[in-house]
Amino acid sequence: MTKTTVQAPANIAFIKYWGARDLERAIPCNPSISMTLESCATRCTVELLPEGTKDEVWLSEPDGGFRTPPHEFHQRMGRHLDRLRQWAGSRTAFRVATKNGFPTGGGLASSASGFAALTLAVAGALGRSDAPRAELSRLARASGSGSAARSVFGGYVEWPAPARGKGSHGATAGTDTDDDPAAAQIASPDHWDLADVIAVVEIGPKVVSSLEGHRRALTSPYFEKRQELLPARLERVRRAIRARDLEQLGPVLEEEAIDLHLIAMSSTPPIFYWSPGTVGVLRAVRELRQEGIHAYATMDAGANVHVLCEPDSVDDVAARLDSLPVVGFVIRDGVGAGPEVDTDHLF
Ligand code: DP6
Repeated sequence: MTKTTVQAPANIAFIKYWGARDLERAIPCNPSISMTLESCATRCTVELLPEGTKDEVWLSEPDGGFRTPPHEFHQRMGRHLDRLRQWAGSRTAFRVATKNGFPTGGGLASSASGFAALTLAVAGALGRSDAPRAELSRLARASGSGSAARSVFGGYVEWPAPARGKGSHGATAGTDTDDDPAAAQIASPDHWDLADVIAVVEIGPKVVSSLEGHRRALTSPYFEKRQELLPARLERVRRAIRARDLEQLGPVLEEEAIDLHLIAMSSTPPIFYWSPGTVGVLRAVRELRQEGIHAYATMDAGANVHVLCEPDSVDDVAARLDSLPVVGFVIRDGVGAGPEVDTDHLF
C-alpha cells in the first residue's frame, strides 16, 4: 500500500483565538492572526487499509518505536478520520502514525500542527490534496483545534471570524459558507524573516485544555472589553506585518498575550497557565529591550514564552533566555513556509 507523509508546522498567534461562538465547530468570536513556524512541526504518515478493517493510530517515539496514544487523543483522532472519510465519500480505513518534533501539550500548539498534518496526509492518501487550501483549512479546524485552520498555510495567516450574529448554525465540515470565512495567508514567509526564540519553562500537558479555556473565556468580565479593543489591534498587526515593523508589532503582541491570560485568570473557574518561569522570562525580555534589543514576548495557552525578534538578535536573545535558571531550554524557530509533503515515512 502506498503511504503519504506530511509535515505541518505549529504557529504562534499574534492576535489570539480565545472564545468561540460555536465551540463544537470551532467558530471563533474574533479574527486571529499568526505566524507559521518552521522547526516546531508534526510529521504524520497515513496508509490506506482495506474497507471493513479498523483504523490504527500510533504515536511515533523518538527511538523509532510506536505506542498507542492516550485514550482521549485516540478518540479525537478517530472522530477526525470519520469526518475526513465523510468529506471524501470514502469508506476506507487508515493506518496513521504521528510524531511531534517538539514538546507536546505545553501551549506550543501541538494540536494545530498535529491536526493540520493529519488532515493533509489523509487528503493526500485519498488523492484529494488538490482540494482548495481553504477547504482543507476548514477541515483541519473541524477537528476542534481552531488554530489548525492557520497551520495549513505558511508565512503570516489571518483567520477571520463571522460577523456578529452569524456562525452559530451547522454546516458540513469543509464547505464554504458566509458564516464561516476561511483562513488565508496575508504575507508570504519571504516577506519578513522574523525569528521566534521559544523559552521552554514547563514541559508536559497544560493545566486546562484550550477547549475548556474557550468555554470559560466568556465568563470573564474582561472578555467583552477585549472584543472592543480588537479591531484596532488587528489593524495594527496587519500594518506592522505589511511594513515589516517589529517595533509596531511588538507592543500589540504583548497586549494580546497579557489579555488572553487576564481573561483566563478572571474566568469562572479561573485558569492560571503561567508558571514562575513565565514571569522570569517576561522580565528578561523587558531587560533586553532596555539594553536596546528589540524583543517582544507572547504566550499561547501555556507557560512557555515565544520571544519574537529580528534574526540578527537571535543569538543574544537565546543566550539571555538560556542563562535563566527558570528556563529548561530554548528552541530557535522562525517564520516557516507551511506544510510539506515528505518522503521520509514514519513506518
Ligand atoms: C491560545 O482551540 O486552536 O493558542 O487545539 O489546543 O491548539 P489547541 O487550541 P485551539 O485554541 C488556540 C488558543 C491559543 C490562541 C491561538 O492560537 O489563536
